[in-house]
Formats: sequence, C-alpha cells, structure tokens
Amino acid sequence: MKAIAVYEALPTDNANCFELIDLEMPVPVNHDILVRIDAISINPVDSKERLGLSGRLDEPLVLGWDACGEVISVGNSVQNFKAGDMVMYAGDITRPGSYAEFQLVDERIVGPKPEGLSCEEAATLPLTTLVAWESLFDRLEIDRDDSDSPALLIIGAAGGLGSMAIQFARQLSNCTIIATASRPESKNWCSELGAHHVIDHSGNLPEQLKAIGYETVPYILNCSNNIPYWEIMSQIVSPEGAICLVASTKAKLDLDIYMEKSVQINYELMFTRSIFGTKKMSIQGGVLARVSEMIRAGTIRHVMTENFGPMTTSSLAKAHQHIERGRMLGKMALSGIQQQ
Ligand SMILES: NC(=O)c1ccc[n+]([C@@H]2O[C@H](COP(=O)([O-])OP(=O)(O)OC[C@H]3O[C@@H](n4cnc5c(N)ncnc54)[C@H](OP(=O)(O)O)[C@@H]3O)[C@@H](O)[C@H]2O)c1
Repeated sequence: MKAIAVYEALPTDNANCFELIDLEMPVPVNHDILVRIDAISINPVDSKERLGLSGRLDEPLVLGWDACGEVISVGNSVQNFKAGDMVMYAGDITRPGSYAEFQLVDERIVGPKPEGLSCEEAATLPLTTLVAWESLFDRLEIDRDDSDSPALLIIGAAGGLGSMAIQFARQLSNCTIIATASRPESKNWCSELGAHHVIDHSGNLPEQLKAIGYETVPYILNCSNNIPYWEIMSQIVSPEGAICLVASTKAKLDLDIYMEKSVQINYELMFTRSIFGTKKMSIQGGVLARVSEMIRAGTIRHVMTENFGPMTTSSLAKAHQHIERGRMLGKMALSGIQQQ
C-alpha cells in the first residue's frame, strides 16, 4: 500500500519534507480493524511530531491521528465492527498513522462515521472530540447538573479543540462559556458555536473578565501554551477551582502559585488511554458513538472549515504549514491518498 512518511524534521517548503513510500499491507488480528482511509484531518500534534525528530530516521514515520474510512477486514476478537462499516477514529500515537491507504486501529477507540457527513467532515471530529470531552468531563469534572451556571473559560477557543469544547459545554452542561479569541472572524466563530461571552487573549484577561462580571472562574481549559498564561490563570481561577492543560510545557513552572487557592491542575493527553491500554480505553469508542449520534441529531456540528484536497506530499506540506501558523478556525481535512 502507499503511505506518505517523514524521515526528519524538514521545513514544509523543502520538497523532501514528505515522501511517498510503499509499505506492506497490514493484517488485522485480535481487536484490530483494517480501515481504508477515505479522509484525514491534521492536528498540531502532526507537526509537533515531525518537527520533534532529531537526525534522520532509519525507518519511515507515518503521521496522522484523525481518520474516516471503510472497514475492510477485522481481527478475530473484534465485536463492534464488520467489513463495510464506515468509521472514524483518532488512533494511537505509538502506531503508524493515517497518512496511508490503509491503517490498523483498535476497535475500542473507534466510532461510527456520523450519518449525513462527508468523510472529510467526519475526519475532523475524532481527536478534538476526545480531548475536549475528556478535558471537560474527566479532568475538570464539570458537574453537568450544576444549576449555578459556573463559568468555564476556554483560552484559544476558535481552534480545533476549543470548537468542540464550546459545543460540548453548551449542550451537555449549564456552564457559562467564556471563550477567548483575538480576531473578528475567530470571535464570531466562537459565538456561533455557543460561547456566551468572547474576550480577547491579546488583551488583559483579568480586566476583560471583570468587565463581564467575573473576578474569577471555577473552570479553565487552556488550549494554548501554558507559559504565557501561567500567572494570569493563577489570578483568575477561583479558590478550589480546576484547570486543564493540554499542551506540553517545555519550561519549569512554579506550581506553588496555585497552592493558596487549592487549585486542581490537570493534564489531559488524549492518547494516554491507548498508549497504556487503560481500563478506560474503550470509553473513547463510546464517546465517538455518542458524538456521532449528536451530529446526526443536529445538536452539535462538524467544524471543518478547509479542505486541502487529496493527500499528496505537497498537499500535506501545505496543510502542515497552515496548522503551524496557529490561526485555525475549526479544522481542516484532506481526502484519501492519491498517486503523485
Ligand atoms: N493533549 C492532547 O491530547 C491534545 C489534543 C489536541 C490538541 N492538543 C494541543 O492543544 C493545543 C490546541 O490545539 P488545537 O487543535 O485547538 O490547535 P489549533 O486549531 O491550531 O488552534 C488555533 C487557535 O489558536 C489560537 N491562538 C493562537 N495564538 C494564541 C494565543 N497566544 N493564545 C490563545 N490562543 C491562541 C488562535 O486563535 P486566534 O486566531 O483568535 O488568536 C486559533 O484559533 C495545541 O497545542 C495542541 O497540540 C492537545
């Protein structure tokens, strides 16, 4: 089968950034299903993995952790899917990714493709669905029945992750959602998705919060880098509040600034459950099934805003370049791999 791989951390304007290669057709065993990939989406992790390589790899690395396609065959222990089913999944970062014609994935982290969506639209959902869901409900432990409308601040809310977090918080909790965005189009996008207030992360957050009636907020989901917001979050989080961090911090941060308020600091990594095969791994398949149903019912929407066409070495380079600008609204998609 064809796949598109990286070997080293080349910039996207280097013609060898991505290489078209041939790999052996994978065969599913146990809980694995073999999927023909019809569409993928790109996330910041794709670019971070590429740019994090040091030296040249001996073996090709196939990136990509958002896909939609048709089940071709299944392993002997598979219960939830059969050949012909259309599915979506983020996958497992320790295994070959979705920049390929076919991919193996564990059925327990797979959900059905939502009815009524194209494969490209569906491919934009899984990764950010899972991290948004786990951040809000497993890490921040937002009480879905809290009638006090607790405030949830989502920093950097117009990107892929924030776009799903706004929608889940709006549909599945009573939270007052305060999104941050810095441009007219990203501010509008957050409002359209259901944010009650939108403030600007390029300005003074504590002052803007005060202006809309909040000295502090009990929940913060930081979809951006931690360093610029570390001290600010300690000022604006409520006593006994909770913060969820999703980006790795390449610096030592002073945790003690959160002690006086007894703040709960949570990390969320969507891949934890598949990396370690935790007991909660199969919950991810259930979350994707639930979200598939919510999309069908029209309670939430897909957030595809850009389609880069079929996967080629050059369309992938353009897509990586685009994500590296850090200005996404929602998510982008590409369709299945194409001969160059
Ligand atoms: N831990 C996990 O499992 C996991 C999973 C998914 C993502 N992540 C991480 O979460 C982060 C967000 O992912 P994503 O998919 O949402 O990325 P994304 O789509 O690339 O985010 C783009 C958004 O970032 C906003 N932004 C840019 N600079 C900002 C700043 N200084 N402060 C606040 N917001 C800023 C932009 O808003 P404006 O244009 O309005 O400024 C833009 O809408 C990334 O670091 C990603 O690696 C982690």
